[in-house]
Amino acid sequence: MRDELGVDFVVANGENAAGGVGITPKEAGELFAGGVDAITLGNHAYRHREVWPYLDSEPRIVRPANYLRTQPGRGTCVVERDGASLGIVNLSGNLYMQAGSPALLTVDDALREVADADHVLVDMHAEATSEKVALGWYLDGRVTAVVGTHTHVPTADARVLPGGTAYITDVGMTGARGGVIGVRREQSIAVMRTHMPTRYDSADEDPWLNAVFIRATARRHAEAIEQILRPADLNPT
Ligand SMILES: [Fe+2]
Repeated sequence: MRDELGVDFVVANGENAAGGVGITPKEAGELFAGGVDAITLGNHAYRHREVWPYLDSEPRIVRPANYLRTQPGRGTCVVERDGASLGIVNLSGNLYMQAGSPALLTVDDALREVADADHVLVDMHAEATSEKVALGWYLDGRVTAVVGTHTHVPTADARVLPGGTAYITDVGMTGARGGVIGVRREQSIAVMRTHMPTRYDSADEDPWLNAVFIRATARRHAEAIEQILRPADLNPT
């Protein structure tokens, strides 16, 4: 897709990469080897203990900036390619999520850390659509893009806001469309019908790629945001 679309930077939210929950250095390495420039995370960031030191040592992977200072990792990074730089800010919503401080307050500090970057992408990992919409408006004109993650379901509101910030409430999930946000559907349905615990396995039926493609030439100013929703090509040539 780098070639097909002429993509400069690829950013992936990887917090469900390890069999549906969390990420380990192995999956992060696979994503980087596959052409991803930076990885963002979210509420499952610390699920696997072996990733804790990796979050401190690998500068291209970020966890929400509004987590506590006592938690491993960092909330921002800057990556460079062909003379251009992209700052990445990861944030966690506050409703139904455990974040150390309000996302809309901490983001100002986080943006200072990427002040020199030509472009800035903010991944707002949040449950509530209101928090993501509010952040989009709050940052409009200051960053290239605000994209939401976590719900696993793509929203139909991709647009460039009046100040030039590309926005979407949720990018969606790259994973099995035949499951329930990543879980085998019969297991998820059984839990909802019985209220009894069961094991969850990753769904593998009908994998799709969900993404957004953002065009930006002027500094921190997006011209277009386009959703990419397509069946995964499991046998690329
Ligand atoms: Fe999440």
